[in-house]
Amino acid sequence: MSLRVLAVASEMSPLVKTGGLADVAGALPAALAREGVETRTLIPGYPEVLAALGHGQTVLSVEDLFGGPAWVQAANLDGAVVYALVAPHLFAREGGPYTDKNGVDYPDNAFRFAALAWVGAEIAQGAIAGFKPDVLHAHDWQAALAPAYLHYSGEPRPATVVTIHNIAFQGQFAKELLGALRLPAESFHMHGVEYYGAIGFLKAGLQLCDRITTVSPSYALEIETPEFGMGLDGLLRARADIVSGILNGVDEDVWNPATDKRIAATYEAKTLKARVKNRAALQKRFHLDPDPDAFLLGVVSRMSWQKGHDMLLANLPALMARHAQLALIGTGDKHLEEGFLAAQDAYPGRVSVWIGYSEDMAHLIQAGADAFLVPSRFEPCGLTQLYALRYGAVPIVSRVGGLKDTIVDANEMAVQAGVATGVQFSPPTAEALAIALRQAEHYFRDKDTWRRLQLNGMNTDVSWRHPAQRYAALYREAVAARG
Ligand code: ADP
Ligand code: GLC
Repeated sequence: MSLRVLAVASEMSPLVKTGGLADVAGALPAALAREGVETRTLIPGYPEVLAALGHGQTVLSVEDLFGGPAWVQAANLDGAVVYALVAPHLFAREGGPYTDKNGVDYPDNAFRFAALAWVGAEIAQGAIAGFKPDVLHAHDWQAALAPAYLHYSGEPRPATVVTIHNIAFQGQFAKELLGALRLPAESFHMHGVEYYGAIGFLKAGLQLCDRITTVSPSYALEIETPEFGMGLDGLLRARADIVSGILNGVDEDVWNPATDKRIAATYEAKTLKARVKNRAALQKRFHLDPDPDAFLLGVVSRMSWQKGHDMLLANLPALMARHAQLALIGTGDKHLEEGFLAAQDAYPGRVSVWIGYSEDMAHLIQAGADAFLVPSRFEPCGLTQLYALRYGAVPIVSRVGGLKDTIVDANEMAVQAGVATGVQFSPPTAEALAIALRQAEHYFRDKDTWRRLQLNGMNTDVSWRHPAQRYAALYREAVAARG
């Protein structure tokens, strides 16, 4: 049976991206198509989205969407339909998807994303001629009101799935907005949208949807505990029977060292030796000493407490006292950015930092670094360690969430058995990271072992095939359960 899904997301690669959510929303439709699932994706019509898609056909008009007219334009992106929600009063802004040019949240984010969810719910109920979805799949808090609108509409509705990409972001807004957000009075209840006296968008979705997923099996278990659940662990424990974890995959067309046009020299497992050209190109691009023997660490990341790069900063003096280099790109918390810039001044030619966002540099770091570091305090899935596996950069990761599920730790037995792909450390502390860095460097100095780690990583299946099969099965089960 062919199944139709409406995905609702606030980002979608390559149209608009601030993190891994975009990669997932961008890659999943093609992978699902191979499993007999047709996915159409509703995203906000930010200026960059409309510029990239051009003038599409208007398939739905809304006279008043929280204070202004709106319409939905359909476009085709690599064979999948994208619906862009055009609402100039909400999305025609100069800043990013969520914040203005100064990084401050837009004051009307409640309405911007309620609008996305509201239109999602309309489409889910057949508002666009010729497309009646079997499933509405909402990604993260920005889309999570959609199942709530469907729940309270009282009309026939499709099955609903909410995926948590990061429970740290929940979308909480003042209770006074209830009516303005088109939520009925009876929804303000602990079994509805109410969350610690406010309106919780993610809470509402998790409470009122049919299935909850998150992006790794370990994170699915972690968020049922107070340590990781960020206030939602009780709800998740109560609904544990409908919670599951499905790992993310890698878009193998975008992240493929054999065909990648963004790197200096293409290579694959058979031609791993050619990788050294990327290492040299990375050193050159980052003004690092052209040192063939340094242990070259790479980082590509948002700079935030979650990602744990303060632990790397704490380890830099010890690392630099040995024979190591660091190439880092990232943006986010100012004090972390400043910390790395200061380290760059302190260790010229050995620490190089680029504050900003660049796909080109992200690819070059994956292709050129010896090891790739992800020291997160929590990590729902994480994609960069998967890209590192594909590119033969050996991941050094904390043992949490998706990092735990995707990297096989190079303990002695795993190395002997020939199955290790990286180095894990636990707990996520600077002290435990220090040990992992020394262990990784020790393997790096043993060329055969290092090559084995690289090849094991490159031969790991990190495609979307298995995850897409699991989503397809989950959709079918959710539809069947609604009868
Ligand atoms: P998260 O979504 O929590 O930030 P993920 O590992 O799931 O973490 O996804 C991050 C995505 O964003 C990856 O595709 C990564 O390459 C990309 N990324 C993060 N920071 C940068 C940057 N400064 N420049 C380019 N790409 C970046
Ligand atoms: C979130 C998580 C990250 C995950 C991504 C895509 O941004 O922080 O771990 O890989 O979503 O699911």
